[in-house]
Amino acid sequence: MCGIVGYAGAPDLDASALDVILDGLRRMEYRGYDSAGVALLTPEGLVARKRSGKLARLLQSLHDDPLPRSNTGIGHTRWATHGAPTDANAHPHLAAAGRIALVHNGIIENFAALRAQLRDEAGIEFVSETDTEVAAHLLAQAHAACGDLSRAMQDVARRLEGAFTLLAVHADVPDTVVGARRNSPLVVGLGEGANFLGSDVAAFIGHTRRAVELGQDQVVTITPSTVTITDFHGNTAPGREYAVDWDAAAAEKGGFPNFMAKEINEQPRAVADTLRGRTDGEGHLTLDELRIDESVLRGINKIVVVACGTAAYAGMVAKYAIEHWCRIPVEVELAHEFRYRDPVVDSRTLVVAISQSGETMDTIMAVRHAREQGSRVIAICNTRGSTIPRESDAALYTHAGPEIAVASTKAFLAQITACYLLGLYLAQLRGNKYHDEIAAILADLRTMPGAIQKVLEGLEQVRTMARWMADTRSVLFLGRHVGFPVAMEGALKLKELAYIHAEGFAAGELKHGPIALIEPGQPVFVIVPSPRGKDSLHNKVVSSIQEINARGARTIVIAEDGDDEVLPFASEVIRIPQVPTLMAPLVSVVPLQVFACELATAKGLDVDQPRNLAKSVTVE
Ligand code: G6P
Repeated sequence: MCGIVGYAGAPDLDASALDVILDGLRRMEYRGYDSAGVALLTPEGLVARKRSGKLARLLQSLHDDPLPRSNTGIGHTRWATHGAPTDANAHPHLAAAGRIALVHNGIIENFAALRAQLRDEAGIEFVSETDTEVAAHLLAQAHAACGDLSRAMQDVARRLEGAFTLLAVHADVPDTVVGARRNSPLVVGLGEGANFLGSDVAAFIGHTRRAVELGQDQVVTITPSTVTITDFHGNTAPGREYAVDWDAAAAEKGGFPNFMAKEINEQPRAVADTLRGRTDGEGHLTLDELRIDESVLRGINKIVVVACGTAAYAGMVAKYAIEHWCRIPVEVELAHEFRYRDPVVDSRTLVVAISQSGETMDTIMAVRHAREQGSRVIAICNTRGSTIPRESDAALYTHAGPEIAVASTKAFLAQITACYLLGLYLAQLRGNKYHDEIAAILADLRTMPGAIQKVLEGLEQVRTMARWMADTRSVLFLGRHVGFPVAMEGALKLKELAYIHAEGFAAGELKHGPIALIEPGQPVFVIVPSPRGKDSLHNKVVSSIQEINARGARTIVIAEDGDDEVLPFASEVIRIPQVPTLMAPLVSVVPLQVFACELATAKGLDVDQPRNLAKSVTVE
């Protein structure tokens, strides 16, 4: 939800600010791509350029009409909230007769009152419909009053309500970028003779792996040789330095046609890395990050998972496993619904917040609400130092590496894996399972990267089918037990990427309504449980396939190797390896991800940046 980059480099460095900023914006574009813009401090004063549409349009404009060389500047890629995605609404926004430029991520909730005040009292004429422009003018006023850009930014930050990361440069303050953050992300990168600011570390990972995490309500000022952090009142504030454990190559496509294809392919590693190093010499699970008193974890009587989108489906998969292993009731709730319905949670409730980015505002608000009610919160998150793990009592990191494609893939598998580790840890702690039972499940989990790899190597049939189906207007997905959230995730991928109507249903629900949708030729994916399972779910799902087949549906069946009972009723069979029932989502979702990616590509769509979406939704 808007990507931000700032750079201050020594004038004698080879790098130009524009190159560094554009490189950062390229990596930030997953956060929004409605418009892009830059502002640079140059010997000729402050210059800015911005264009609606994707970064490529800005690049073309800069190519046709280059800006003067600079060593300091800011950049922005936008996901529109206030005001349409036009050139005028694109950031940076200017003030002080073009001497100040400012970019913003978030929503300034009191902007209307501030705008009226600036118009009535200072006669300011606004040129955009954005909430951001008020911050630029307030900064100009504050700077004119105190003559210090950092202090001016503190003044502005104190007056704003809502969520914001702001970066600004002033023509009269060379070599300096000032930033502020409240409820939106901002990290500092420490370079040699240069310092960086970014919405996340990907913005500067090509230049440095030394990062500084900023806290809530902080102002940061960078120059080529200094980084100064204060609170909104000017008191010195600490920043926590850490080393980024992935490099620039991890944020590149690496020969794949798009990030999504690359990330799908990285799933075996995402699962393996999430499992790594989490047992002691005797095979006991040791989740060192879970700094919650063991007696508290033994005493919990309910788990509530809060998450949005794909992360919520990971939570739904985890519910089956955790309830089965730990005998604790698990509720899964969309984070935005949880917060506003007065949920029954207390000090004996464990809230598990799942989020790839750690910045989803709906989930942040749910975490805050849960903690206010006295619940302990564990974050399952892929982004170190982001808001959700920072505000939780403990964090269990998924080690999926940077996920850049907007539609989540490898994070989903890593989230399920991390939830399973958490479930097994609780089972170990509470004595629900013997040590050897837990060891056996962990051993099964460790076979999963190999099983996922096997699926990835046999997907030509899915790709061909997706290309044939490029004109399809509606696709249904059916699953049962852990296959149900997989069905919903398969439908979500298709909606997000290919803009096709898609719905996931619990197969048992089919006869209660959705079967009315079936007409001749309707494609229906069915995720079939293993026939080796103890109960008779397999037979029931096969009956569902028969029922839709009888009504002319085109049945595309995902079934494990050796399951031939599905053959008479299936138009297509996609094979997955035999794995334990609770592990099946880690393999059965892969063909659905590839199907959506391939179909969207066949339609000529941009799979990494689907329309209207943003990867990290930092507004409620
Ligand atoms: C957005 C993204 C989804 C993602 C969801 C939750 O809607 O488009 O792909 O699943 O946010 O994101 P999180 O970072 O909290 O996992």
